[in-house]
Amino acid sequence: MRQPLVAGNWKMNGSRSAVGELLEGIKAGLAGVKTAEVAVCPPYVYIPEASTRLAGTAVALGGQNVSTHAGGAYTGEIAASMLVDFGCKYAIVGHSERRTLYGEDDTVVAEKFEVARKAGLVPIFCVGETLEEREGGTTEAVIARQLDAVLDRFGAAALAAGVIAYEPVWAIGTGRTASPQQAQEVHAFIRGRVAAKDRAVAEAIRILYGGSMKPDNAAELMAQPDIDGGLIGGASLKASDFLAICTAANR
Ligand code: 13P
Repeated sequence: MRQPLVAGNWKMNGSRSAVGELLEGIKAGLAGVKTAEVAVCPPYVYIPEASTRLAGTAVALGGQNVSTHAGGAYTGEIAASMLVDFGCKYAIVGHSERRTLYGEDDTVVAEKFEVARKAGLVPIFCVGETLEEREGGTTEAVIARQLDAVLDRFGAAALAAGVIAYEPVWAIGTGRTASPQQAQEVHAFIRGRVAAKDRAVAEAIRILYGGSMKPDNAAELMAQPDIDGGLIGGASLKASDFLAICTAANR
């Protein structure tokens, strides 16, 4: 059985006081989370604070991005080893906001995946189509291309070290969620694509859904056979909502 993972991607939100309040709120409700593994991905500067406050809990930490470089003259970048140094388990790679706003292409995303993996992090590898691509009937082709960037270059064994997140771009921050059927279709496609390379890896890898997942739609989405949790944006900024999503994975 794949253990569900619910990861909060805080994006560029928060302040010291808001982060403190959010973390304390999450901690206070963790007893109700029976099945899911829980992770939070704060902005880099709040990672030490989160690490201190979450010490002794099972909540994992992750970075929202990672450099392709190991270190050196790369102003503004954060290396995978630095995330490990602060106790991070995960690093998000290939988020659509990185792809569209910061020009990260499939090659860069694949490099980030590999750098993170080699440093001992679990990459949360994001894929997803835009509305235009969905309406143009190219969803599967787009997802296949994004997946193959890692699969063809580094192989299924490398992919096995990560988690995949399907985040339809048109559902991110829009309040417009993929229906459970729409999401399941793409998740099954992703698992099938991985299975064509390695069946055991496909069976074991967790595929998260992301895109306006909220307390009121989380249970139905996570009940789908190929949806193994969520990557949560907006709803991860409110402890009660985030916890409600985490407990929606209880079995
Ligand atoms: P929302 O949950 O705000 O739609 O964001 C999803 C997301 O981008 C998580 O990485």
